[in-house]
Amino acid sequence: MSETFKALVLNQDGETFTREVKSVDKSFLKHGDVTIKVDYSDLNFKDGMILKNGGRLVKEFPHIPGIDFSGTVIESESEKFKEGDEIILTGFRVGEIYYGGYSQIAKVDGNFLVKKPKDLSSKQAMMLGTAGFTSLMSAFAIKAREELLLGAKVNDVLVTGATGGVGSVAVMILNKMGYNVTAVTGKNDKNNYLESLGAKNVINRSEFDKDPRPIDKGLWDGVVDTVGGKILANAIAQTKSNGIIAVCGNANSNELNTNLLPFMLRGIKIWGMDSAGASIKRREFVWQAATDLIDFDLLEKSVQVLSLEELIETYPKILKGEISGRVLIDLNK
Ligand SMILES: NC(=O)c1ccc[n+]([C@@H]2O[C@H](COP(=O)([O-])OP(=O)(O)OC[C@H]3O[C@@H](n4cnc5c(N)ncnc54)[C@H](OP(=O)(O)O)[C@@H]3O)[C@@H](O)[C@H]2O)c1
Repeated sequence: MSETFKALVLNQDGETFTREVKSVDKSFLKHGDVTIKVDYSDLNFKDGMILKNGGRLVKEFPHIPGIDFSGTVIESESEKFKEGDEIILTGFRVGEIYYGGYSQIAKVDGNFLVKKPKDLSSKQAMMLGTAGFTSLMSAFAIKAREELLLGAKVNDVLVTGATGGVGSVAVMILNKMGYNVTAVTGKNDKNNYLESLGAKNVINRSEFDKDPRPIDKGLWDGVVDTVGGKILANAIAQTKSNGIIAVCGNANSNELNTNLLPFMLRGIKIWGMDSAGASIKRREFVWQAATDLIDFDLLEKSVQVLSLEELIETYPKILKGEISGRVLIDLNK
């Protein structure tokens, strides 16, 4: 193995913040016990925040970002992994406090890795990444209304931020689960795209971005919310009895002003999603389910594949909500 490889390195010197693709020596990698040749990484909202200015998540510079990657183990001091194992890494604060996947070679704690299911390719794993993993977790949370909570069948579900990474994959999965999906988007020209993913209805974001009534007509058995703020507050007011709201993101706001009526009168539940801290057991279950629930040929149509150099040009778009679908980073491009 070559001792040098290409990585995207962030640096901060006083007020100056830099992002640079450069050649790095293996001795630069200072965390973990498993070394991986990275095939693919991706771009999530959190990556965008880190690439902009560290996002108050990165504590030390220089730093290699990238919260997700897939690849093959080339060296291991961990008993759990050996050379040749194909792995998936998402979350666990890799790319934040540990060096991440925007690097041809990565080194991480073996306790963070999941063995890639055989019927999922390394590329497909990163077409999903943290965003798709969170969509799967959210869809299972909604489905739990039927299984764990012995509730009636889920029929109508709402997805907010629907053209985003989490939202678009959630639309696809919930449709595959047999639910009627309504997608909320701020993009006027994306109705056909959302319908192609399986949305039965598309609603403009402006209808949700207003002060909610304390309790509204119940419309949804389940909600996947990726944006927060007034949009989430309206979704809560419109959730039917015993509905479940999977709360994943804050692309609109961290704020939530709601009231107790939907909880007391309808028994609705808010279920927070924490993909970064999910247990290995949960991760293995979710990744195993991916091939049954995702149409990768369809997903690939809305995937852009970028090099590290192209990522530096493109990342600001995710912070402005301008990306539809998923962005894949090919470390060999
Ligand atoms: N909890 C977890 O474990 C977890 C995991 C992954 C992501 N997240 C969070 O989930 C959110 C979505 O992540 P992502 O990777 O899917 O990001 P993304 O690809 O940028 O998608 C976010 C989508 O939200 C909508 N949006 C953007 N800005 C908005 C605004 N100001 N007001 C209302 N809607 C807005 C846009 O969709 P439309 O144009 O279609 O409306 C955008 O495409 C982020 O907050 C992220 O941090 C959380």
